[in-house]
Amino acid sequence: MLDESLLSTRTSRMGSSAIREILKVLARPGIVSLAGGMPAPEAFPMDHVEGLFGKVISKYGSDALQYGTTEGFTPLKAALAKYLNGRGIQTKAEQINITTGSQGVLDALGKIFVSPGDAIAVEAPTYLGALQAFNPYEPEYVEMETDEQGLIPESMEEVVRKHHPKLVYLVPTFQNPTGRTIPLERRRQIAEIAARHNVLVVEDDPYGQLRYRGDHVAPIQSFAPEQVIYCGSFSKVFAPGLRVGYYVAPDFVREWLIRAKQGVDLHTSSLSQALAAEFLAEGLMEQHLPKIIKLYKPKQEAMLQALRDFFPDSFRWTEPEGGMFIWAEGPKGLDTVELYHRAVEKKVAFVPGRYFYTREGAGAETMRLNFTMADEETLRAAVQRLSEAIKET
Ligand SMILES: Cc1ncc(COP(=O)(O)O)c(C=O)c1O
Repeated sequence: MLDESLLSTRTSRMGSSAIREILKVLARPGIVSLAGGMPAPEAFPMDHVEGLFGKVISKYGSDALQYGTTEGFTPLKAALAKYLNGRGIQTKAEQINITTGSQGVLDALGKIFVSPGDAIAVEAPTYLGALQAFNPYEPEYVEMETDEQGLIPESMEEVVRKHHPKLVYLVPTFQNPTGRTIPLERRRQIAEIAARHNVLVVEDDPYGQLRYRGDHVAPIQSFAPEQVIYCGSFSKVFAPGLRVGYYVAPDFVREWLIRAKQGVDLHTSSLSQALAAEFLAEGLMEQHLPKIIKLYKPKQEAMLQALRDFFPDSFRWTEPEGGMFIWAEGPKGLDTVELYHRAVEKKVAFVPGRYFYTREGAGAETMRLNFTMADEETLRAAVQRLSEAIKET
């Protein structure tokens, strides 16, 4: 009989079964999940989708169903260049490549840059999906310190100087999991450190457009286009099922990422790319985004108000200006995995924060709360039940 002895040594780093195991209970009926990271289905532009399909077929015909180039669908790259320039990103259409979700580029980055034992610098905490993408390439993670304003540039500089990481992986805007945004001055410093030490920064930005308050902050890429790979996605602003992401990168990085992608999926779905191209070219992004913001902003406010009303004084939490997550931190000694099991008994789930750290034992008292899926009333009731579980723990 076939068994796991067939597996490559690489799979030993592809674990994360602990988190999969604890999140299994989400399938139980009646649980309100604050654990997810999914956009609300009401946030999808359903009123435009049928029209978009029609336009794609009449405009591109069989090209929308044919094999395409690994670099991506040319009309999408052209529309993206215009859109990204408007957000401060320095790029031309030919410097943009399309990926299968922004997740698609993370694996490729691991593949082309990371040999076993190479360092990758990450924020503490960081996006779990990036760790899952990099893990099979057997990196050594080096955590960089963060505070209320996200990554501390001095910590990045120290890590870069000591460990010479192959990549510095950052989610600078409405970070997953904390919701924090690195302010402009720190971004300038980060860009300057990257240039001075000649290190490659990955700026992963799937949430930047989901801003409910405050002003857009220029991307790190705009200060150091030669040091930064800027990654974006249609998942949170159109629909994740399309699986369309993109990146802007220095020339040699792009060439190698294309070679990596060729061997994985040849190219991203032509049909999805054509839909995304028309969505942008027809100005639907500008029309639709305010609707998503109008949907999420009150949900976030409801969760923040519920936290103020119900959570004990010993807790602190972030108050992000956008995105999909709030990060809460309890007193030292609290174990949010234990709390999780109690909360599930009260039919509410969240993600214990420890899974977003690469260091064993870090973040035991933290948790990530998502507010996009449930309605305001449900969110308030869920936070109330969660605080009851806290008081019992
Ligand atoms: C920080 C970050 N990067 C990348 C992704 C992947 O998104 P997608 O592949 O759907 O574009 C996510 C998804 O939640 C994310 O939070």
